[in-house]
Amino acid sequence: MVGKFISFEGPEGAGKTSVLKVLMPRLQKQYGSQLLITREPGGTDNPVAEAIRDVVLSPAYPTMDIRTEALLYAASRREHVQKTIKPALAANKIVLSDRFVDSSIAYQGAGRELGMDNVRALNDFALEGFLPDCTVYFNIRPEIGLERIQAHRQNEINRLDLDSIEFHQRVSAGYHQLAQQDPKRIVVIDAEQPLEQVIEDAWQAVNRVLKMEE
Ligand SMILES: Nc1ncnc2c1ncn2[C@@H]1O[C@H](COP(=O)(O)OP(=O)(O)OP(=O)(O)O)[C@@H](O)[C@H]1O
Ligand SMILES: [Mg+2]
Repeated sequence: MVGKFISFEGPEGAGKTSVLKVLMPRLQKQYGSQLLITREPGGTDNPVAEAIRDVVLSPAYPTMDIRTEALLYAASRREHVQKTIKPALAANKIVLSDRFVDSSIAYQGAGRELGMDNVRALNDFALEGFLPDCTVYFNIRPEIGLERIQAHRQNEINRLDLDSIEFHQRVSAGYHQLAQQDPKRIVVIDAEQPLEQVIEDAWQAVNRVLKMEE
């Protein structure tokens, strides 16, 4: 592997997608077609992973078994890594993913209470040791993130948005634990700041990783 793989993580409404939208043209200027932006669940140019995304996020299945859900996320991720991310890295690309494995460990492991170690083990099978070079963790109190979403996105509610605040608190605690366990990989940024500042902090984190290589 020669490229670099960076994931963006954090609760809903933390600003991951908003920040990526701003960083994408900046990075494109520098790296052109060497840049690949993707997201989970699903993935850029990955029909199998996207088909699984449609199932896991659909409000049509409110009673999905939580282990089924965890398995689907891991299956989708396997496909994303094998068919999208690894080939891009082999071609020396810079890959940025809006969410990756930490989302599963935080949401299914901590949020749904399957156990972070269980979900990590399940994903180890899918990933065979593959991890991002760097993860930018958008740290925000979940109630602030949910408030932002409610203020801006009334018509597009997915299944996860319908969960209780306690669920989101567990997710947040899970993320904190992950950041503590792996401070070398996971860079924490304060996502409660104004968007402009969050963008700058994320930009610096991304550039630190990319400049290491050059
Ligand atoms: N720093 C910020 N301050 C205020 N509002 C923000 C900030 N960052 C993002 N927002 C707003 O909050 C909403 C959610 O942001 P965004 O969709 O980028 O979050 P996200 O982390 O991608 O969430 P999700 O996990 O649900 O995809 C958007 O309407 C966005 O404009
Ligand atoms: Mg988003």
